Amino acid sequence: MKRPEIKKIKHRIESLSSLPTIPPVVTKILSLIDSEDTSLKKIGEFISQDQSISARVLKIVNSPIYGFPGRISSVHQALMLIGLSAVKGMLLGISIFDMMQQSMVGLWEHSIGTAIASRVISIKADIKNPEDVSIAGLIHDIGKVALSMCYPNQYKEALKRASEKGLYIIEAESEVFGITHAQAGRWLTEKWNFPKELIDAVSYHHTPSSSGQYRRTTSIVMLAENIIKMMGFGFSGDPYVHNMDESILKEIGIVEDDLSEIFAEIEDSIADKEALIL
Ligand SMILES: [Fe+2]
Ligand SMILES: [Fe+2]
Repeated sequence: MKRPEIKKIKHRIESLSSLPTIPPVVTKILSLIDSEDTSLKKIGEFISQDQSISARVLKIVNSPIYGFPGRISSVHQALMLIGLSAVKGMLLGISIFDMMQQSMVGLWEHSIGTAIASRVISIKADIKNPEDVSIAGLIHDIGKVALSMCYPNQYKEALKRASEKGLYIIEAESEVFGITHAQAGRWLTEKWNFPKELIDAVSYHHTPSSSGQYRRTTSIVMLAENIIKMMGFGFSGDPYVHNMDESILKEIGIVEDDLSEIFAEIEDSIADKEALIL
């Protein structure tokens, strides 16, 4: 199979914004969020006009991704709780759900598991915005969706190579594309004007030390996705769990003794499979 030209890959991924898989109403809401004179109230009203998006917003805030105790029954209340900065990631998380389901078996479970684990770790580490880190976990592998949507056959080839040759998926992607899903995700999230914290998590979750300001978030996502892989939840394309050293715990601000509690809480949260379908 001929390796596609990197310039072309970038171009194709960047044109993904115009695909019908992102509902037009989400595109509108996203531009509303970016506009200067916006407010939670305005965005809430806009979301409320679309029944299917409203239903999904309510489903996600009541899911273990956020872990708010008690039921949240209005979009406005939901937005108040998560805040403006998290709305964007949440809407994109919702709208890539179908794409994830279609692009790779098990990727959705891997992503939602990573979101939940990211929140649990963030709370343990006393992070002030666990919701944002959770969304970073949800979308961290969005580059896989982008690559497999633009190049379905080549992506299948990368998955096959990973399993047959025992490679990490990033190694197999490099062989097939000359880039990894981290790079692909970076192109996509930069093009879509994601918040910087999310762009960093998407770009550096395999190399958190390359991340600057958001190294802590990026490290949490890395640990979270590894724990989820160890638990055998979902499928990320990797035949193995990545190596990690203790420095990552230090970076996050937790100690080894915290891990057993973290594991138990994650296991509890992913037990209800129904709640994990958005
Ligand atoms: Fe992952
Ligand atoms: Fe990844």
